Amino acid sequence: MQSFTLNDGTVMPTFGLGTWKSPKDAVYEAVKEALRIGYHHIDAAWIYQNENEVGRAIIESLDAGVLTRDELFVTSKLWNSFHAPADVEKGCQETLSALDLDYVDLYLMHWPVAFRPGTLGPTPEDFVPLSECPLSATFEALLQLKEKGLARSIGVSNFSVSKLEKLIADTGVVPAVNQVELHPYNPQLALKRYCEEKGIRLTAYSPLGSRDRPDTMKAKDEPSLLENETVVNTAKSEGITPGQLLIAWAIERGTVVIPKSTNAGRIAENLRGAAHIMSASARQALDDIDLQYRYVSPASWFIQGVTYEGDGFWC
Ligand code: A2P
Repeated sequence: MQSFTLNDGTVMPTFGLGTWKSPKDAVYEAVKEALRIGYHHIDAAWIYQNENEVGRAIIESLDAGVLTRDELFVTSKLWNSFHAPADVEKGCQETLSALDLDYVDLYLMHWPVAFRPGTLGPTPEDFVPLSECPLSATFEALLQLKEKGLARSIGVSNFSVSKLEKLIADTGVVPAVNQVELHPYNPQLALKRYCEEKGIRLTAYSPLGSRDRPDTMKAKDEPSLLENETVVNTAKSEGITPGQLLIAWAIERGTVVIPKSTNAGRIAENLRGAAHIMSASARQALDDIDLQYRYVSPASWFIQGVTYEGDGFWC
């Protein structure tokens, strides 16, 4: 399994299993199957509300000797309602207790947005303005988790260039990872350039276009990534499936990639995709798509002066 060394020396497998949207019963089977066939990296989060089942699968696999804890890389994420520095460790401990682990390998601030404690999907008054609870204060509390050995590396998710710039200026620390939506419709070229300059590793979420997300998150006529003509034709010419091509493309451009699946056949298919070396022309064909379409964009969270300043949430 290919890996990247992060800016703090931690080694992170390039490819992992996503668990967002995976139902509890299915995620248990999916994680067990993934670890059994050679996955070494599981991406989880408090808000996915399935960490107990992810944890049960991990612990059973470790106990059965499928792999050792040192060979496994587990990522989780602090939910928005734990942003107050005094609550950060509580958020992490809830995850560790659900996963039944002593530490996670990577712990991310899930969104650059703070909710009042106890809220999941807030009304506008549930947001805490960033002036009251700055991202830098939350990040500094996250760094304490690393000091305490609860997380080996600390990073962020859904951060734009300007938010990263401010975070680094305010804390003097460069996050190890920024996990964002990345695929040929949303290649985020400027963000990628910036992260490469700073030594921040990007992880690609929703690399297959996230077609199983709730209907409430979907636009009426959204373009299908897996059925995109260039993706389909290029996959054919590479002798692989569209899903495998998208995974190989993500790795080819130097990003970590975490496709979600709860289907044993596709879990195996995706692992094989991660091992595929694509031709330069296939890479170019996908680079050229650049449709500029985002699948995950919670517009109701974007409140000027509360969750972002300046040009926009993603700028
Ligand atoms: P399933 O879980 O039934 O396999 P993303 O990672 O972008 O969020 O995409 C997840 C969606 O893509 C899920 O609907 C998942 O379904 C599906 N999926 C996962 N792997 C593949 C694949 N190789 N080909 C087609 N669809 C896939």
